[in-house]
Amino acid sequence: MSAKPEILVHTEAAVMTITINRVEKKNSLTAAMYGTLADALGSAGRDAAVRVVVIQGHELIFSAGNDINDFLSVPPDASDAPVFRFLRALSTFAKPLVAAVCGPAVGIGTTMLLHCDLVYAGDNAAFSLPFVNLGLCPEAASSLLLPQLMGHQRAAEALLLGEPFTAETALEVGLINRIVPPAEANALAQMQAQKMALKPLSSLLETKRLMKLGNAPLIAGRIAEEISSFGRMLRETKRLMKLGNAPLIAGRIAEEISSFGRMLREPAAREAFTAFVEKRRPDFSTL
Ligand code: COA
Repeated sequence: MSAKPEILVHTEAAVMTITINRVEKKNSLTAAMYGTLADALGSAGRDAAVRVVVIQGHELIFSAGNDINDFLSVPPDASDAPVFRFLRALSTFAKPLVAAVCGPAVGIGTTMLLHCDLVYAGDNAAFSLPFVNLGLCPEAASSLLLPQLMGHQRAAEALLLGEPFTAETALEVGLINRIVPPAEANALAQMQAQKMALKPLSSLLETKRLMKLGNAPLIAGRIAEEISSFGRMLRETKRLMKLGNAPLIAGRIAEEISSFGRMLREPAAREAFTAFVEKRRPDFSTL
């Protein structure tokens, strides 16, 4: 376990700022990080001193999505897995959510933005949803929200082709609010969050609830459906990854056993073992 906190949480002037802080691994998200994110959102929801939450990454990277190694070693196959806890906390979060996105936003790095109310992007932001390229399917209700946002055909380019899109496209389709130089994105998100935090909380909560009202049950249903497909496909991917090598490994072990047994009885091994027992250097000069 790393000593450095990989998720930083800081509350000031009624704004909780959550920073993804694993730059050396491109801010990819592990189960432990999802757990911390879900807990932070839970406490922000309960804490009357928090009115708005900002999610941000680093100037050069927002998030490379799920940590692929972690995903394979600890596949999230139960609906209470940290990643799904985070998605539920995010998609049902009642207070305003603001995001600042710079650099690559891969997979959940992009899909989490569909649940944010305001999104400010650096001009280096690059969005991608490579689920099909990984033999997976969409998550975070992106199979519902992305076509709703940009239309079926444009969503298909992102989800069926897995093609990345730029900050300009994201702005045009309405995924983000504004493009700024990367060094200014976090500050702009913070400024907007602080402006919102001065408004009456009851009004913010009710307005967000009403804006989401029609979609809320659809989103919850879609997330559950995706979790089931995603978990199944992830397990299948893992099985298939091992499958390719399994007959090769079995065959190679059999081959090695045969060579090993034969060589064990040959003069070189005999000489090596005898030399070891007699505490002398082996003499392979005639072998
Ligand atoms: N899971 C685990 N490790 C990851 C990761 C991920 N999703 N993304 C990046 N890393 C790690 C790399 O393995 C590398 O680790 P190392 O230094 O120990 O070798 C380090 O982060 C730097 O990554 P690198 O690929 O060299 O950085 P880059 O600047 O060339 O590219 C990305 C950045 C985000 C474009 C690229 O890392 C990427 O495509 N990552 C995978 C994204 C993905 O498919 N996510 C899953 C979505 S469901």
